[in-house]
Amino acid sequence: MSDRLFIFDTTLRDGEQVPGCQLNTVEKIQVAKALEELGVDVIEAGFPVSSPGDFSSVVEISKAVTWPVICALTRAVEKDIEVAADALKYAKRGRIHTGIGTSDYHIKHKFNSNQDDILERAIAATKYAKQFVEDVEFYCEDAGRTDNAYLARVVEAVIKAGATVVNIPDTTGYCLPDEYGAKIKYLMEHVNGVHNAILSTHCHNDLGMATANTIQGVLNGARQVEVTMNGIGERAGNTSLEEIAMIFKSHKERGIETNINTKRIYNVSRMVSSLMNMPIQPNKAIVGRNAFAHSSGIHQDGVLKNRESYEIIDPKDVGIDDNAIVLTARSGRAALKHRLQILGVELSQEKLDTVYEEFLKLADRKKDINDDDVLMLVGKDRTAMHRIKLDYLQVTSGVGVQSVASVCLDIAGEKFEAAASGNGPVDAAIKAVKTIIHRQMVIQEFLIQAINKGSDDVGKVHMQVEYEGNHYYGFSANTDIIAASVEAFIDAINKFVK
Ligand code: KIV
Ligand code: ZN
Repeated sequence: MSDRLFIFDTTLRDGEQVPGCQLNTVEKIQVAKALEELGVDVIEAGFPVSSPGDFSSVVEISKAVTWPVICALTRAVEKDIEVAADALKYAKRGRIHTGIGTSDYHIKHKFNSNQDDILERAIAATKYAKQFVEDVEFYCEDAGRTDNAYLARVVEAVIKAGATVVNIPDTTGYCLPDEYGAKIKYLMEHVNGVHNAILSTHCHNDLGMATANTIQGVLNGARQVEVTMNGIGERAGNTSLEEIAMIFKSHKERGIETNINTKRIYNVSRMVSSLMNMPIQPNKAIVGRNAFAHSSGIHQDGVLKNRESYEIIDPKDVGIDDNAIVLTARSGRAALKHRLQILGVELSQEKLDTVYEEFLKLADRKKDINDDDVLMLVGKDRTAMHRIKLDYLQVTSGVGVQSVASVCLDIAGEKFEAAASGNGPVDAAIKAVKTIIHRQMVIQEFLIQAINKGSDDVGKVHMQVEYEGNHYYGFSANTDIIAASVEAFIDAINKFVK
C-alpha cells in the first residue's frame, strides 16, 4: 500500500512573484486549468489582499476550476483573512493559507516581538480563518531557521486551533537535506496531535537543495509538498513539481504516490515557461531541452540497443513524444485548434482566427511549427494594448561596415522616426529607439534564445531594463532576432512610459 502525497502547486503565487513573470487573469486561468488536468491537489491562486489583480485571479480561478482545492495566502492579519475569504467565495473547496515568521530573525527584526506574542498571533489567525473556511493551512515562515522546540510549540498550538495543514517553509533555502528531514521527524515525534493535520514542505532552492530537502521532508512524514512548475519562484526558485512527481514515480519502493498525470508534465511546463517568459535551462531535470538528448556516441549506441541502459525515465512518461505532429503552412484551423487543445489552451473562435492568421504568417517564414511556436503565437497579442509600438525597423549591417538602423515608433497613434549607428545592428536599433524615447534607460540583462533548432527558428528575447532605479522586463519572439530585440526593449519601455 502506497501513501498518498498531496501536491500543492504555488506556480501562480510564489512562482508568479518573480519579477517579469506576472500573468493576467486570463493567463492564470489557463495555467490553473492545465494544473487541474495535470492532477494537482491544491492550487495556490494568489495573495488577495496584495492587489486587486490577485483578488480577481483568486475569484476567477475559483470559478474556472472544479476539483482541486483553491488556496489563498494571507498574513496573520484579520483584514488579509477577510479579503481572502471573500476572494474564495466561489471555490468549491477553498483553503486559507495564513501564517507568520517564527525564526528569531523574523520575531526580533521583522516584528520586534517575542516568541509568546508570535505564538498568540498564530493561534488567533488560525481561529479567525476557521470562522470562514474549514480548511486552514498555517505557515511558520522561515521554519528552516526556527529552533525546533519553539517550532513544535507553534505547530501544536495551531493544530489545536484547527489548522488542517501546517507548512514548514525553508523560506531562505538554508537547510541541508539531513537537517530539514530531521526537523520534520522532530515535529512528527514531539507535537501532540500531529496526526490531526498534515505537515507540508515548502522549500526554496538558494543552495540547490529544494528537491532534496522536500524528499527528506516526505520520507520523514510530510504528506503535502509545495512546488512550482519548472521550479520557478523568487531568487533561485521553489521545489519543482516535475522532479518530485518523477522521483516518486521512479522510486516506487519508497511507497509514495501522487495524483500527477505525468504524461501532461511536458505540455504544462512549456505553457508556464511561455506564458511567464521564463526560459527553462537546457539541462533542467525532466523538462530541459537536453534532459533526454544523448549526444555521446557510447550513450546513443546504448540507448538504441536498450533504452534503459542510459535512461531511467521513458520520455513518453513525461509527455515527450518524438512523433508529435508538427504543423506546417498547409495545416488548417482545425489542426491548430486540436494542437492547442492538447496543449491545454482553449480559445474563443475570434482569438483562434487571430492566432491562425499569425500562424500562417509564421509558417511562411518557418517550415515546421512546433508546440513552443504555437504557445508563443497565443501570447503575441499581449502587445496590442501597448502605447508605444514598433512601426518599422530597417538595419544595414555586415562585416567591415558600420551598422546603421532606422526606426519608426507609433506612440499613441503618432509616428516618430530616428536613425542611429552602432556597434552591431541591435546596438544601432536600440540607440535609434533611445533617441525617440529620450530617457535614461540601461539594459541590464539581454538574453537571446532559439526556441528549437534551425536557422529559420523563432528567437526569444528576454531583456531587463533599468529606469530610475527600478527594473522592467521585456520580452519578444520573432524569426528576426534584431526585430525581437527591439520589440523586447519596447515591451519593457511600455511598463514605465504610460
Ligand atoms: O517561502 C515562504 O515562506 C512562503 C510562505 C509565505 C508560505 O512562501
Ligand atoms: Zn516561498
